[in-house]
Amino acid sequence: MEPEQKNLTETMVKLRVDTKTIQAPEGTSLLSACLSAGIYIPHLCWHKTFSPASASASCRLCFVEIDGKDPVTSCTLSIKNKMIVRTDTPVVRNLQKTAMKLLLSVHHVDCKNCPSNLSCELQKITKFLGMGLGSKPFERLIKNNGIDSRHPIFDYHPDRCVLCGLCIEICGQLNPEAFLSFASRGFDTAAGYFQKDTSIASQCSSCRACIDTCPTGALTDRPL
Ligand code: SF4
Ligand code: SF4
Ligand code: FES
Repeated sequence: MEPEQKNLTETMVKLRVDTKTIQAPEGTSLLSACLSAGIYIPHLCWHKTFSPASASASCRLCFVEIDGKDPVTSCTLSIKNKMIVRTDTPVVRNLQKTAMKLLLSVHHVDCKNCPSNLSCELQKITKFLGMGLGSKPFERLIKNNGIDSRHPIFDYHPDRCVLCGLCIEICGQLNPEAFLSFASRGFDTAAGYFQKDTSIASQCSSCRACIDTCPTGALTDRPL
């Protein structure tokens, strides 16, 4: 996929976000424009190379309100001139907290023993939203699947995976076809190359981009 910037015209669009007026090239996603202007919106499944059309919008975290209407995901929305955006309304925050609680209900929180401790997006987002990582009003549904060590360069920890898809996306951008994919369905969904022809492992270039892109500690480097 081409980086978002390459598809843009040079026309600049001006919009109001909370108390700030910001501008960005036409065609930019609202999430990207806000982040570039220093306005943080929680997000897990977005990558800077995504256009509004290519965003998967699977994490349901990046909600905002436009012109006082119902919340929408900012990663899928192109900016428009004179847009009035609110990133911090009670409705937006409730949606974001609910999305995080759902993610955490299937996440094994064990930060002390996780390599992502202190650089983890889940820690950052829960802190931003003023909620603890231990918030669990929903049923805990930890899979306890153990560690999958079938990949030649990383270990996969399903209980830390938030199924954001970024590892699969980045692998597909760097190779003719992604070596990684989602396997199974529903509660058993997992990321890996495991459901594909296992000979695909020999084609992995060990670039480690998937590990670097993962926002949690779900992919851990296996020292050579
Ligand atoms: S992925 Fe993040 S929240 Fe989960 S155990 Fe690791 S550091 Fe903690
Ligand atoms: S392994 Fe990491 S990057 Fe891949 S889907 Fe899970 S959380 Fe996302
Ligand atoms: S970043 Fe927009 S839904 Fe995940």
